[in-house]
Amino acid sequence: METSELRNKFVFFIIFAGIITLLLIVFPFIELPLKDYVSNVFGTTDGRMGVTAAILLDQIFRILKIVLWMSLIVSIIRFINQLIFSTALGSGSHEISFLLRNVFSIILYIVSFFIIFNSQYPGIDLAALFTTSTILGVIIGLALQDTLGNLFSGLAIQADQPFQIGDVIRIDQKGEGVVENVSWRGVQIRTFQNKLVIISNSVLGKEIVEVAPRDNLNARLVFFNTLYTNSPAKTIQVVREVVRQIENVSQKIRPVVRVRNLGDNGLDYEVKYWLEDYSKYNDTDALIRQRIWYACQREKIEFAYPTRTLHIETKPQEGVFVETSDEIFERLSSVPIFAPLSDEETQKLAGAALARVFAPGEAIVRQGQNGKSMFVIHRGKVDVQLKEASGTKSLRKLREGDFFGEMGLLTGEPRTATVLAEEETEVLEINNLCLKPIFEENPKLVAALSHIVEERRLSFEKLETQTEERKIKDKTSVFNSIKKFFGLHD
Ligand code: CMP
Repeated sequence: METSELRNKFVFFIIFAGIITLLLIVFPFIELPLKDYVSNVFGTTDGRMGVTAAILLDQIFRILKIVLWMSLIVSIIRFINQLIFSTALGSGSHEISFLLRNVFSIILYIVSFFIIFNSQYPGIDLAALFTTSTILGVIIGLALQDTLGNLFSGLAIQADQPFQIGDVIRIDQKGEGVVENVSWRGVQIRTFQNKLVIISNSVLGKEIVEVAPRDNLNARLVFFNTLYTNSPAKTIQVVREVVRQIENVSQKIRPVVRVRNLGDNGLDYEVKYWLEDYSKYNDTDALIRQRIWYACQREKIEFAYPTRTLHIETKPQEGVFVETSDEIFERLSSVPIFAPLSDEETQKLAGAALARVFAPGEAIVRQGQNGKSMFVIHRGKVDVQLKEASGTKSLRKLREGDFFGEMGLLTGEPRTATVLAEEETEVLEINNLCLKPIFEENPKLVAALSHIVEERRLSFEKLETQTEERKIKDKTSVFNSIKKFFGLHD
């Protein structure tokens, strides 16, 4: 507190105390004559009224005296408070808490009140009134439960002195800020958003409080990362030099820059530095990050960002059970229906063929369904079944190197039968799209193929399994239906 302010307070105190003292001195002189006068005035008409008026006036004088004495005491205590705490002791590095000051004052007020009250009412024992009255005790106890809890926690905090005004404290999930005041109720902190947060002493006593003392060099960590291609030695040196020049970074301890992790995306670094004023750590952190960015730009040190190395695996076109396209070629070459094709054409066909694997009992083609592909059995065996009104009839078993579904491929007609895999079977599927360009290049192939298909049909006939409808169809030229289906001209 400034001297002029203290002088003003002193003058005010002297005047105020002087007036009170004067009143207290004057009181005895006017008290008796006034009492006599009042009792005479009221006693002339009625003697009892005169006595009552005198007693009333006596009470008023007693209360007035208590009020005047208390005013004098309060002003003296307040002045002494100012004198002792704000000047003599307050000039030290530690400010004496307001809380202690208030507690000290309250105790003096209470003691003074008891003494003054006793001087005016010697017959009434105030202390006994408080100590013997159970109900009063309970009422006061309940009403002051929280208040007293806060008060005693506050006193414990003061006795322990874990932090001072001006320190930065952080209480988990309650806030962080600079301590501004410690009162009998709680601790008041100013957050970094310039808000005031008041935490009651009893709550504070139960929490973990992180304290960054004002007169201590508190450290902070700032993180950044660079690519693996940048030398750590150079990065550390560049960043350390730039950080130590930043204001509010203490010159007493050299900042530490170190690699904290070999991360997924690059080298992770941490900068540990000590602050002159911890309450400004947000600004200092931000400035450090900014300066690191500029320094890294100058020194061509690149920051890391999430990267992924992709290994692209080319998926084989064939199914997992077919090893090579040569195998497919070999297989197709051995199929009689493709005998008229040149090696080159067979190779093309092999390139377009899709290997498919079917489980035992699974239908590869279903009777009546539309299908535009044929199948060559590469591995396993199948059962060709015909569904009739009387039931399902097995027409033929086909094995490795056999083919089926040729009518669907060459004429586009619905499947004439159902073909079931008898065991795990791998087939090579050839669709009409990959066959069409081969037909266009070599139209003579159509005649050769239709001949083979007709031959097979004849062999089917011998088995006498064909329907009437099928027999009529066989009479029409397979050749024509193939040409029509593939849109080939003569
Ligand atoms: P697709 O009609 O396209 O579909 C069913 C296939 O079963 C058929 O072509 C022939 O390949 C085959 N198929 C039909 N009947 C017989 C049979 N009697 N003998 C052998 N295979 C047949």
